[in-house]
Amino acid sequence: MGLSYLPEQGQTPLDPEYLSGLRLVGVTTKLQLDELEQLNIQSAMTWLISNPPKHDSLLAEKFIKSLHKRMFGDVWNWAGNFRRVDTNIGVEWWKIPSELKVLMDDAQFWLEHNTYPREEWAIRIKHRLVSIHCFPNGNGRHSRLFADLLINNFGNLPYFTWGAHAKLDEYATRTNYITSLREADLGNYRPLVQFALN
Ligand SMILES: Nc1ncnc2c1ncn2[C@@H]1O[C@H](COP(=O)(O)OP(=O)(O)O)[C@@H](O)[C@H]1O
Ligand SMILES: [Mg+2]
Repeated sequence: MGLSYLPEQGQTPLDPEYLSGLRLVGVTTKLQLDELEQLNIQSAMTWLISNPPKHDSLLAEKFIKSLHKRMFGDVWNWAGNFRRVDTNIGVEWWKIPSELKVLMDDAQFWLEHNTYPREEWAIRIKHRLVSIHCFPNGNGRHSRLFADLLINNFGNLPYFTWGAHAKLDEYATRTNYITSLREADLGNYRPLVQFALN
C-alpha cells in the first residue's frame, strides 16, 4: 500500500481546541476523520486533473496554501492557513513565510540550473516543505501531493508511488518512509527518492 493519501497515525491528538476547527458535526473517531480527509483529498485530485496548475504558479506561497485548502477545506476551517503555534516538527511558526520563500527561491534556482535530476529535485523540495511544517496538520499528505505535481509538471513524469510497489502493509511502508525522511534530515536523499519511486 502506498502512502499517498494516508495521514500519519497517532500523531494528531484530537484535543478540543483542534476539533473546534472541524466543519462537520458527528465526527467522533480518528478513523472517521481520516476517511473524511481522504475524500476531501480525492476531490482535490479530481479538481487538479481538470485544472492543471501552471508552471509559473506552482513554486509560490499562494499555490502552497491553495493546495492545502483544496485538500482539507471541506473538513477543517483552518485549511490553507499557516499555523500560529509551534509544533515538534517544523520551524518556529512566525518564520514559516520567510522559510517558505527561501525554499521556493532555491527550488527555482535548482530548476534553472538543473542542479539535480528532476525526481531528486521534487523530493528535496518535498522534504524541506514538510520540515517547515506550514500547517497545523496534513503536512505529510500535502507535501507528497505537491511533489507529485512538481514531478508531473516539470518532469512530465507520473506521480510518485510512495512505496506502493513494495506491497508491504501500511505499518512497514510507514516505517520505511519515516526512516527515509530521517536520512533526508541528515542530507542523504537517496532513500527517500527510492521510496517515492517504488
Ligand atoms: N524526521 C522527519 N523529518 C521530516 N519530516 C518528517 C519527519 N518525521 C515525520 N515527518 C513528516 O511529518 C508528517 C506528519 O505531519 P502531519 O502534519 O501530521 O501530516 P499528515 O497529517 O499528512 O500525516 C509525516 O507524514 C512526515 O511526512
Ligand atoms: Mg497528521
